[in-house]
Amino acid sequence: MDTFCVTREARDAVRTTWGSEKMVMDKVVSLFFLLGQPGHEGREEMQQKILQESEEHHDIIQSDFLDSYKNLTIKTMVIMEWLATYCQNATYAMKIDSDMFLNVNSLINMLLQAPRKNFITGLVAIGAAVSRDPSSKWYLPKDVFPADFYPPYALGLGYVISLDLPNKLIEGAKHVKAVYIEDVFLGLCMWYLRIPLTNQTDQSLFNYFTVPYNRCRYSKLIATTTHSLQDQVNFWKELKKPGPHCQP
Ligand SMILES: *[C@@H]1O[C@H](CO)[C@@H](O)[C@H](O)[C@H]1NC(C)=O
Ligand SMILES: *[C@@H]1O[C@H](CO)[C@@H](O)[C@H](O)[C@H]1NC(C)=O
Ligand SMILES: *[C@@H]1O[C@H](CO)[C@@H](O)[C@H](O)[C@H]1NC(C)=O
Repeated sequence: MDTFCVTREARDAVRTTWGSEKMVMDKVVSLFFLLGQPGHEGREEMQQKILQESEEHHDIIQSDFLDSYKNLTIKTMVIMEWLATYCQNATYAMKIDSDMFLNVNSLINMLLQAPRKNFITGLVAIGAAVSRDPSSKWYLPKDVFPADFYPPYALGLGYVISLDLPNKLIEGAKHVKAVYIEDVFLGLCMWYLRIPLTNQTDQSLFNYFTVPYNRCRYSKLIATTTHSLQDQVNFWKELKKPGPHCQP
């Protein structure tokens, strides 16, 4: 569920790897990509391609906002509305960027012991400083966001929520100042709702820095960034080969 420039290629990498896992440890897993509208030149042609891809795979949700970095908060709230409407029967959802490596088994293992309500986890940032540097991708001027630190928030590259939260977050969002940094915005909503975020005690499960491939390590982690789509595909295939994951 990334910005539009992350392409068909990234979605195909997901579809052929962790996104192909539909039943894991007896649990039903579904995958969807959320897209906005393509912008700029060539948008008609791009839209045609999206429709084709959608007919082929039936896993694309498209909403009517312009898909851009500065619209990621809109994208996240569209995801929340979609989850609240169509996923009442599911217990958890994960929002993850399409260039991430995900180990679905590890994810479900963690969730089997997780609370089923008021639960959000991932890489929880605590006391992150607000960027006042106008050249930064994450710049927020003081008049838009006066506090010097953000409330705790789960980094947007991959977080998991219990499915009672979408409705609560949608309600909370009405009372929170809109900032375009989507994960910070959800953090503000959680702050408003007075619901604490859950950090994993095992800090090796969610990874911001790409973890070098190691069969044992990858069999345990939940998510990590990767250097390339090719790595994402190769690591997944290697991990799925038969045989023990860790040396005794
Ligand atoms: C966000 O989406 C809206 C609705 O499509 C659009 O009008 C606006 O220009 C977009 N903003 C950015 C910064 O892309
Ligand atoms: C949820 O489960 C109920 C009862 O099993 C079923 O009737 C309903 O269609 C399901 N809803 C969705 C959105 O899957
Ligand atoms: C979660 O873990 C990260 C990484 O170790 C740390 O920076 C952060 O402060 C932790 N957050 C909580 C809520 O303990």
